[in-house]
Amino acid sequence: MKAYRASLLWFAPQNDSPAQALFEEDGLLVIGPDARGMQVVQAVGSWHELSPRYPDVPVEQLAGRIIAPGFLDLHVHFPQTNVIGSPAAGLLPWLEDYTFPEEMRFDSPDYSAQAAAFFVAELLRNGVTTALSFATSHPASVQALFREAQRNSLRMITGLCLMDRHAPAALLNRVGPARAADGARNAAEQSLLDSQALIEAWHGKERLGYAITPRFAPTSTDAQLRGAGELAAQYPDVWIQSHVAENKDEVAWARELFPASRSYLSVYADFGLMRNRAIYAHCIHFDDDDRALMRETGAAAAISPTSNLFLGSGFFDYEAADRIGFAYGLASDVGGGTSFSPFHTMLAAYYVAREGQTKTGLSLSPQHLWWQHTAGAARALGLDGKKGQPAVGNLLPGCEGDFVVLNPRATPLLARKTALATNLDELLFSMIVLGDDRLIERTVISQAIPSASKSAVT
Ligand code: GUN
Ligand code: ZN
Repeated sequence: MKAYRASLLWFAPQNDSPAQALFEEDGLLVIGPDARGMQVVQAVGSWHELSPRYPDVPVEQLAGRIIAPGFLDLHVHFPQTNVIGSPAAGLLPWLEDYTFPEEMRFDSPDYSAQAAAFFVAELLRNGVTTALSFATSHPASVQALFREAQRNSLRMITGLCLMDRHAPAALLNRVGPARAADGARNAAEQSLLDSQALIEAWHGKERLGYAITPRFAPTSTDAQLRGAGELAAQYPDVWIQSHVAENKDEVAWARELFPASRSYLSVYADFGLMRNRAIYAHCIHFDDDDRALMRETGAAAAISPTSNLFLGSGFFDYEAADRIGFAYGLASDVGGGTSFSPFHTMLAAYYVAREGQTKTGLSLSPQHLWWQHTAGAARALGLDGKKGQPAVGNLLPGCEGDFVVLNPRATPLLARKTALATNLDELLFSMIVLGDDRLIERTVISQAIPSASKSAVT
């Protein structure tokens, strides 16, 4: 067991609405192993109340620091680190001109491995402790990211990008000569066999999870989407991730390619790809029937505001999402997104929500923004401790011990501004507006304790 004395930020247990933030100026966070040997939160609260209960636990003193839950990134592309900041007229030319050429390079295991090492290090530097990430259409890229996440004990969910049409040949799923033994007759079948093999190898291994990953409907044939839905039915606890309703040209293209479906989002429902643990990036150009479909199926939106602003895609409608009531959380969407920093993403979400709040003229509260990147995102991902699932994104007892140590004096301006805060909202808003990787002094990851040493710790 180990304890940390610092200011603490976490969230009250949640019902259906965004949870209220809790703050303890002089707090104690006690971390110790659970029955699985995972480091989890044992106690959180005021130092005065808790310290007498843990007299023998060593305490690290972190005066002037704030401990907060590790951030979740609900949608990011590990092969697009080099694509950040590539200007284009919109999503489709951006894919053609910058993204597809870079992703082709991930055919190489070596290229994938070095990119994965940089990516995971960058997540950790920015305080991200759980991510749902795209890889490319090359199995080597998926293997590389899983291996690197495993090495760092990061909670990582990823999967083979399914795309069997409408992209350069080097980026489409392929039936290689060495794979004929699998019995695949075409790229769609091969991509699904490869996905299944990756599920068997990685899903549920330590902190890793698999996501069935059709890139977006326009780059998959009906056969590939149907097969993806069948695979999802076979593995009910794997995740599903894709893109939807991001850009008007993309929506028109999807409608043209799938005229039988009621809407672009319905294409995914029609192929069995909407359910709990299905995370759809963007969800901008929706009508209320689409929003109701999200709610009824239990799918969640990964809101990616820096990407939507950078690519000129549009504005996620928070008012409509809350009126209908479906799950959502925040995402960087690097490399369409411009930053790995959750602070930049939260600030962009504030701008986006301002755009939509025509009735009140107000935007989201800082507590709500922070919740969307932590406990709210964990709930959207099905990692909030319900139904025996692990819990992340919060510091309630039982949550995995992933947290960040924030230094609110990390820059002269942060020190000056946070010292002026007279309440929690002012403090959080100062960090959201002025924060970046410099605010993250340390990222602590929950480690599984090897069983041999478990008895020594407990
Ligand atoms: N739609 C299909 N592929 C992509 C991608 O890589 N990034 C974004 N932002 N949207 C997409
Ligand atoms: Zn994306």
